[in-house]
Amino acid sequence: MRHYANKPEWQIITRSRAELDLRDQQATNAFFAEEKPDQVILAAATVGGIKASYTQPVDFLLNNLQIQNSVLSASHRYDTKKALFLGSTCIYPKVAEIPIREDSLLTGPMEETNAPYGVAKIAGIKLCQGYRQQFGRDFVCGMPANLYGPFDNFDPEHSHVLPSLIRRFHEAKLHNKPTVTLWGSGNPTREFLFVDDLASACAFLLDNYSSGDIINIGTGVEISISDAANAIREIVGYQGEILWDTTQPDGNPRRLLDVSRMNQLGWTAKTDFRQGVAATYQWFLDNRASARV
Ligand SMILES: NC(=O)c1ccc[n+]([C@@H]2O[C@H](COP(=O)([O-])OP(=O)(O)OC[C@H]3O[C@@H](n4cnc5c(N)ncnc54)[C@H](OP(=O)(O)O)[C@@H]3O)[C@@H](O)[C@H]2O)c1
Repeated sequence: MRHYANKPEWQIITRSRAELDLRDQQATNAFFAEEKPDQVILAAATVGGIKASYTQPVDFLLNNLQIQNSVLSASHRYDTKKALFLGSTCIYPKVAEIPIREDSLLTGPMEETNAPYGVAKIAGIKLCQGYRQQFGRDFVCGMPANLYGPFDNFDPEHSHVLPSLIRRFHEAKLHNKPTVTLWGSGNPTREFLFVDDLASACAFLLDNYSSGDIINIGTGVEISISDAANAIREIVGYQGEILWDTTQPDGNPRRLLDVSRMNQLGWTAKTDFRQGVAATYQWFLDNRASARV
């Protein structure tokens, strides 16, 4: 929403989860009947890191199916002109040619730890494609890389790797801890997309993209978890040592999206990793009281 201040022609309509549980079809229909949105960005989802998705598979599968079924069917019923559904890189096979092209979807088995989330997201893609095929609806699907930025979730149980690292190093610095132990080997690579870049990509897709084909949204740059952790440690100013608990799962060995389709359409990510982490850490420091911690 911050980002869309640069789109005065948009009137942004939102509801908090407390005001509208998007799993509730009736309540979602009532919201659409009242507001009749022209365009919908479906970003709401149950999300989290490896630990949460591994220990709460039902929440990840059922909540996401319910949210997307409810919002996409209401978008159809109330004649929304365009809907953008946000998927995830978890939809892709565990072993896919790097960088991962959109056409690698469903060409091999998924990574087990986040399969419930990935399967739900694939169902959302198929639903968007189905509404296009059966009813001519302009529903499109963007697959973002790992997100981070202001307003992130820093909760130890539910945060993704990057906000979780920021929090861990920050607390270790505060309490003068000599070491911080992180899950896995540190070797897997990930691609991190700053949230403002995703916001700009969503607006770009609504304005410029109309196809049933999914499209990747990323930076095209991969970084190992250990390099990311070291960069964050430096930015946070933690002087201690990082230990790696290799008895814990690593997740996918490599994740890097092929973003050439998005680039060819004319969109590229703008935020450099260190600059994005510094902005996120500053936001965390300024908003400790209201942040999801
Ligand atoms: N984070 C990533 O690395 C990443 C990567 C690729 C794709 N994505 C996708 O991008 C989107 C945004 O992810 P995010 O990481 O920004 O997640 P997030 O910060 O947790 O935001 C998700 C939002 O959905 C809301 N929500 C969850 N369940 C709801 C429900 N039943 N009814 C209404 N609202 C509900 C949450 O409300 P509360 O604040 O009340 O919980 C939250 O505001 C998701 O679709 C996700 O799958 C994320």
